[in-house]
Amino acid sequence: MSQLPLFSSSFRWCGSRQRRVFQWRQRRKCNQTVVVGASGASSSSSSEEEKDEEAKRLVFNPAAIYNEIFCDDVTFSKDVSRKIAKEVTELHPETYKHPEDSFYGEIDVNSMLELIDLGTDGKNLDGGLRYVDLGCGVGKQVATAALSGKFAKADGVEICPDLAAKAIEGIARLREKLEKYSDSSHACEISVSQGDVFDQDLSQFDFIFVHATTFHDTTVGMLKAKLSREMKVGARLAIVSKLCDDIVNFEPLQSIPGGIGWKPISQVDEKWQLDCYLYEKTKELD
Ligand SMILES: C[S@@+](CC[C@H](N)C(=O)[O-])C[C@H]1O[C@@H](n2cnc3c(N)ncnc32)[C@H](O)[C@@H]1O
Repeated sequence: MSQLPLFSSSFRWCGSRQRRVFQWRQRRKCNQTVVVGASGASSSSSSEEEKDEEAKRLVFNPAAIYNEIFCDDVTFSKDVSRKIAKEVTELHPETYKHPEDSFYGEIDVNSMLELIDLGTDGKNLDGGLRYVDLGCGVGKQVATAALSGKFAKADGVEICPDLAAKAIEGIARLREKLEKYSDSSHACEISVSQGDVFDQDLSQFDFIFVHATTFHDTTVGMLKAKLSREMKVGARLAIVSKLCDDIVNFEPLQSIPGGIGWKPISQVDEKWQLDCYLYEKTKELD
């Protein structure tokens, strides 16, 4: 059963004006710029109509919207987040399963969009896919998932209270930005809560992302057992830096070019890339 979060935030972004954007998004690669609606000056007299016309002319670019939200370095930079997580570990070591689990890092937005494209390949997007980032930090990969146009719901859970609070603030900023855009047929509900991934029910998700590079072996072992038990058959796992070939009811995802089941991804402000392994749960445990 899910633990009640100390605080959480969610909103349903489902205004009719957002619908068309995501119809367009779906048909194009994630980091491409999409012009929504017709161009040309509005001759509309009422301000409501003028706003509608403006929304139609707006360019929907997920990476640009993401950068506008998270460019506020004082609040959202990786270094600030890393410092916060380090302080929490020092002051409240009991927060984490292991102190190494707290080390903070981030994936580049365009790498994440590519990963989501690959990880959802072959899935019926009209089925209302649900995404979750286990250990979402300040919520950047939750926002990216919401902007990708692939999910009906994007969730994040973060154990560090200060980081979770920032994630909630980021989501509020995202909502404000998205209100300007035109229709979307795939409204995305977004939700972040403060809590422990080990208290979450994972059976509801279709795509689970874990940036587990510095998670301690003990934590990874516990996580693998939970994923193997709780994920639904057909759900996908994208896990950074931790090979999970030993999960007996998981298969590497074949849709990765070359069928190799993993993809290199770029990190924010780091020279080297990380490997992200993708799997599908193929059957229940015996
Ligand atoms: C490497 S950071 C990744 C942040 C984010 N997912 C991203 O990729 O941008 C790992 C995050 O997991 C969080 N974390 C570690 N153990 C956790 C747990 N048991 N429950 C929830 N969050 C946890 C840490 O506080 C940290 O913010």
